[in-house]
Amino acid sequence: MANKKVTIKDVAKRSGVSITTVSQILNGKEDMFSKKTVKKVLEAKKDLDYEPDYFARRMIMKKSKTIGVLVPDITNPFFSNLLRGIENVLYRENFVAMFCNADMDEAKESEYLQELSRRGVDGFIIASSAVSNQAINDTLKKNSLPFIVLDQKKAEGISDAVLTDDFSGGQLAAQHLADLGHQQVAVVMPEDAPDNIQKRYEGFCSIFPEAEKVNSELSKIGGRQAAKKITQEDFTGLFAVNDEIAFGLYLGLNEAGKQIPDDYSIVGYDNIDMCEYVIPQLTTIAQPIFELGQTTAELLLERIQQPEKNWEEKMLPVQLVERASTKRIKQHT
Ligand code: RIB
Repeated sequence: MANKKVTIKDVAKRSGVSITTVSQILNGKEDMFSKKTVKKVLEAKKDLDYEPDYFARRMIMKKSKTIGVLVPDITNPFFSNLLRGIENVLYRENFVAMFCNADMDEAKESEYLQELSRRGVDGFIIASSAVSNQAINDTLKKNSLPFIVLDQKKAEGISDAVLTDDFSGGQLAAQHLADLGHQQVAVVMPEDAPDNIQKRYEGFCSIFPEAEKVNSELSKIGGRQAAKKITQEDFTGLFAVNDEIAFGLYLGLNEAGKQIPDDYSIVGYDNIDMCEYVIPQLTTIAQPIFELGQTTAELLLERIQQPEKNWEEKMLPVQLVERASTKRIKQHT
């Protein structure tokens, strides 16, 4: 028969103290007891090879050392890089992350919030705009559960937040195309864009007030499909609000017999690894993705330690990374 699982009761019996004493000593309150008692308990734990049950620990400590992370699209390299930054800090601080991919489904997001709080996570990182403020109020704020928002989840002044400078990012993309002489430009973006993407469009329009929108999901298939409309217009400069759209444009425009950058200059957004592996390499606006994840996790852990501190919002800068997908427009003589 498999060995019976060692319990806290066995450790108490072995060390001759109460279960409560064992629990308190194993959960950071050894200072309340004599060195002799602590030594007996730790020796019994070692001899019996006892490992506390984390959910039992949670009941006592009201801490699970677990953070729930909600993102809209785990298949997008931006979010996998973001998760690496989050995980880097959580691992360093002995926390574990529970990643939830919501596929922009509001009902799924709300279910995840409830499930994660049932599992006793110590805090939440929310990067998805599909998490409604109603769900946040009903599940997190009502239960005083610490959370932080970033990226597609708009900062509303009711929580900590880490932002990147989307407006400047749109301006940088536009200024780059303007410096290359482009005047017929379009922004390729979702029709119902999250707030951060909308700010990129607004930044772009601060340079090109007449810039047209071409609809696309934040995906390669969206960019590929958008190419059809683009080839029916006389654009020469395209701003894709993320790199995945840009990669889709590459294929869609190639299928229409067009060349990049000879027929179209394209600027992307994010600077995911693939930008260097497509031909021509993609000019893009770089977000500090890994640092964004690290900063978000650090701010949330501070909130968990200091629940009453004032809300904090951090803004991280973005920068233009010029590669080979943009070129000066030919002057028609
Ligand atoms: O590629 C995913 C996009 O959605 C990124 O630009 C990121 O900022 C998120 O909003």
